[in-house]
Amino acid sequence: MLHSALINVMVKAARRAGRSLKRDLGEIENLQVSLKGPANFVSLADKRAEQMLYEDLSKARPGYGFIGEEGGTREGSDKSHTWIVDPLDGTTNFLHGIPQFAISIGLRREDTMIAGLVYNPANDELYIAERGKGAFLNDQRLRVAGRRTLDDCVVACGLPHIGRGDHDLFRRELTEMQKRLAGLRRFGAASLDLAFVAAGRLDGYWERNLSSWDIAAGAIIVREAGGIVSCVDGKSDPLDTGNVVCGNEYVHAELVKILRPL
Ligand code: IPD
Ligand code: CA
Ligand code: CA
Repeated sequence: MLHSALINVMVKAARRAGRSLKRDLGEIENLQVSLKGPANFVSLADKRAEQMLYEDLSKARPGYGFIGEEGGTREGSDKSHTWIVDPLDGTTNFLHGIPQFAISIGLRREDTMIAGLVYNPANDELYIAERGKGAFLNDQRLRVAGRRTLDDCVVACGLPHIGRGDHDLFRRELTEMQKRLAGLRRFGAASLDLAFVAAGRLDGYWERNLSSWDIAAGAIIVREAGGIVSCVDGKSDPLDTGNVVCGNEYVHAELVKILRPL
């Protein structure tokens, strides 16, 4: 399948960084990582991947700004374009050798996301989308699931844990969701949760306290697959608030109705 020059640039950069992460995952799986330093090992893998992405994307599109989870914000001479990048989304999964993690690359023009890529090097699943041109998984066109009632739906979520998130609020969310859903899932990589909604594997997803780099790429992939993505209030931009909910128009509306008052 022929893609635009922009998507080709993003795919090439993601595959190069993905080869590096796949090698690092192999070391973790073979327990070659010294037990005293797994967290340090992963942070090195994270930083190495981000440096590769920064080098490749900056070479291909000089002047674009770059917001990366590890390196922070690097202003560019072209103030209209900014890469929003998570080089390793699902760090804890990666550290435990769980093959559910991804490279997430979003491109914003002014205030609008114009392209997104989420790539899991562990299983070679490559999700891409460009504004107005659809969403794809390994070149297969994507469409969100068509279920309209929550009692048929399987929905993913985040899961506050030690030192992370509002545990009481999540318990209230969980109580309401458990009454209504066919299933709940927690996979541990927000960008892939969004990509799974775009692929129709999940009917919806919500999570609070995320960062822009968790959401940017996955959001345009969901939208280009016919889904709705918003803040849990149903209207604000989740990149501004860090609180996201998505699904087809029916599921999104039902989830917002539950989450907004909590
Ligand atoms: C995390 C993952 C996880 C989400 C966390 C994020 P990271 O990203 O996306 O699913 O629940 O809030 O921080 O830290 O592994 O890049
Ligand atoms: Ca992340
Ligand atoms: Ca990360």
